[in-house]
Amino acid sequence: MSVLPSFVLPDSASVATDGRLLVAGLDLLDLAAEYGTPLFVYDEQHLRARCREAVAAFGDRVSYATKAFLCKAMAALAHEEGMCLDVASCGELYVARAAGVPAERLVLHGNNKRDEDLSYALDEGVGRIVVDSFDELDRLDALVGAGRPAPKVLLRITPGVEAHTHQFVRTGQDDSKFGFTYSTGAAAAAVERARASKSVELVGVHMHIGSQIFAVESFPKIVEVIAPMVKPLGLPELCIGGGLGVPYVEGEGAPSITEWAAEIRQACERVGLDVQLSAEPGRSITAMATITLYTVGTIKDLPGIRTYVAVDGGMSDNFRPVLYGSGYETFLPRAVRADRTRRVTVVGMHCESGDRLVDGGLVPDDLQVGDILATPVTGAYGHSMGSNYNKVRRPAVVFVADGKARLVVRRETFEDLIRCDL
Ligand SMILES: Cc1ncc(COP(=O)(O)O)c(C=O)c1O
Repeated sequence: MSVLPSFVLPDSASVATDGRLLVAGLDLLDLAAEYGTPLFVYDEQHLRARCREAVAAFGDRVSYATKAFLCKAMAALAHEEGMCLDVASCGELYVARAAGVPAERLVLHGNNKRDEDLSYALDEGVGRIVVDSFDELDRLDALVGAGRPAPKVLLRITPGVEAHTHQFVRTGQDDSKFGFTYSTGAAAAAVERARASKSVELVGVHMHIGSQIFAVESFPKIVEVIAPMVKPLGLPELCIGGGLGVPYVEGEGAPSITEWAAEIRQACERVGLDVQLSAEPGRSITAMATITLYTVGTIKDLPGIRTYVAVDGGMSDNFRPVLYGSGYETFLPRAVRADRTRRVTVVGMHCESGDRLVDGGLVPDDLQVGDILATPVTGAYGHSMGSNYNKVRRPAVVFVADGKARLVVRRETFEDLIRCDL
């Protein structure tokens, strides 16, 4: 018997008496019929609950990492729930501002912020800039020297701690493009320079060791590593970055945001670091709030080899399987508790053999063309990493709450595909 594990479903999920899945009281098949597929369905209560948990755990300067998923509705929601927003580009900054988020509540990241990015951020008056390099300090010297206000900054330190996660999302080791390396003395030199500088107001240090990390012991480790350098400085802020993992498939489990924060707080207490702690969770806010709905278009059975189930999306709405080999559960919203007896390979509709969404996905035996097939835990790094590859129109996004759906991102049109062409 292989029934979908219920932990992969959003907080407001329930099963109707006929076996169909509801989220916030809404039938997913009705949503697919109304808005079309592929469709991202976000459980708004789930999003809000995770934002509140983050604020309760880390305090007022905790940021939502918008790279996980961003549109105006998401930016506004995170802001309403009391989070700051981490923006990793001026595009993300623009969307957050367009959503009405005050610039003071934004934290700008990036390992290569250009003059125009920094000017934009300074002119808007962003709350914090996380400085990544000596070249960036040079640029800030020039921009502030030319009359712009000196920003509050944190320095991104690379602590030399390897997180147990996929190599593409590991950022804390010495061999990284990000930040000032601790072991080479670059971090100490950057601190010295920033403290002496009139172009920046140094308020703290920042670290981010990677993403999709289940082993929360990695976080206390980085606090211990940097404590000898940071403690004597008496800087008020320490941001521990994002990175808390979420379970995607049967057999995985992850600590809660509250547990994650408690581990880090205890580490700060152990080493005597008295700072305003903050963090930048992305995935742990949005991933599990979401289900993607697809329509099954073709089923190709290769006896003794595999069965390909092709859906109307693919690597353009979820690039993670191609990029990291990530796994997902699969199910049919029409029969969410059904025994999933058939092992299939769910593929997309792109002209790439590698365009696989789920390798070895389980589905009920009676799966057929025309079925709505769902992948849960798709709220982070799916829509945000999406593309127009093969000139596919990017999917719509709906937020559901209290029995109502609201379209927050409409499906792209053919006209959208040529709107930048001259
Ligand atoms: C600097 C920084 N902060 C926060 C995050 C968010 O990480 P996650 O979504 O794993 O919580 C990332 C993502 O890689 C990041 O690079």
